[in-house]
Amino acid sequence: MARCVAAIRGLCCRPVVRNFAIIGQKAISTEDFILDDLPGTSGRLDVLVRCLRAAMLSSHGIRRGVVVYLVLLGGPLAPRVVRIDGAGVQFLRPDERSLAVRVKKVLASRADEPAAEGEPSPWVTVRPGFAVTRGGFERVIADVDDATPWILDEDASDIREAPGLGSAHGLFVVGDHLGIPEDVRARLDALGARRVSVGPVSVHADDVVALVTNELDRRVAAARR
Ligand SMILES: C[S@@+](CC[C@H](N)C(=O)[O-])C[C@H]1O[C@@H](n2cnc3c(N)ncnc32)[C@H](O)[C@@H]1O
Repeated sequence: MARCVAAIRGLCCRPVVRNFAIIGQKAISTEDFILDDLPGTSGRLDVLVRCLRAAMLSSHGIRRGVVVYLVLLGGPLAPRVVRIDGAGVQFLRPDERSLAVRVKKVLASRADEPAAEGEPSPWVTVRPGFAVTRGGFERVIADVDDATPWILDEDASDIREAPGLGSAHGLFVVGDHLGIPEDVRARLDALGARRVSVGPVSVHADDVVALVTNELDRRVAAARR
């Protein structure tokens, strides 16, 4: 997604954008899952939609400056990525089932045709704020422009001591129940990503997203004082 250069440099009034990428190593890339058994039939898409809630929704609304990428590496159309842009989303309910229904409808679209050989697949907006593309983590990297990449890791240094965390566009990468795959780590290492931890205990992915969000909220509030 093209971002204005002045905003990236903190020189214009557009707020800093928070990007979260959740890597679903087995998460299904089609709509063929059962809502009544989401964890058992979707390659743990439930983990990803909980992360979406934690990143995108505050108590009374949608966080307009947040973009969430659900990287789906399981099922017949994988790799595929669903992008949810808070700037465009309408009426997002916080419960897991409603979020899964919304993602199911997006995945049922086949508008994101595979691109020609060597060409990146375009993003296709399927519903307000919801777009989909064929391709894996590389499509996320291409979309976030100059965002500063961060890897969320249990044994890394404390996020509370991380300099520059909230002052520029960030891309925060979180694993699912299986963690972050090696190829994604290697790609992030090549980009100079820094590893940070939200605490000494391994917690659920959506709790990680909530803790990162809380840390960013605190920094924004402190910068305003
Ligand atoms: C439930 S954990 C996955 C645990 C998995 N067994 C593994 O080896 O990665 C899901 C993801 O949350 C993130 N995570 C969990 N606890 C964390 C912590 N204390 N600090 C930072 N990230 C954490 C990591 O990105 C991890 O891949």
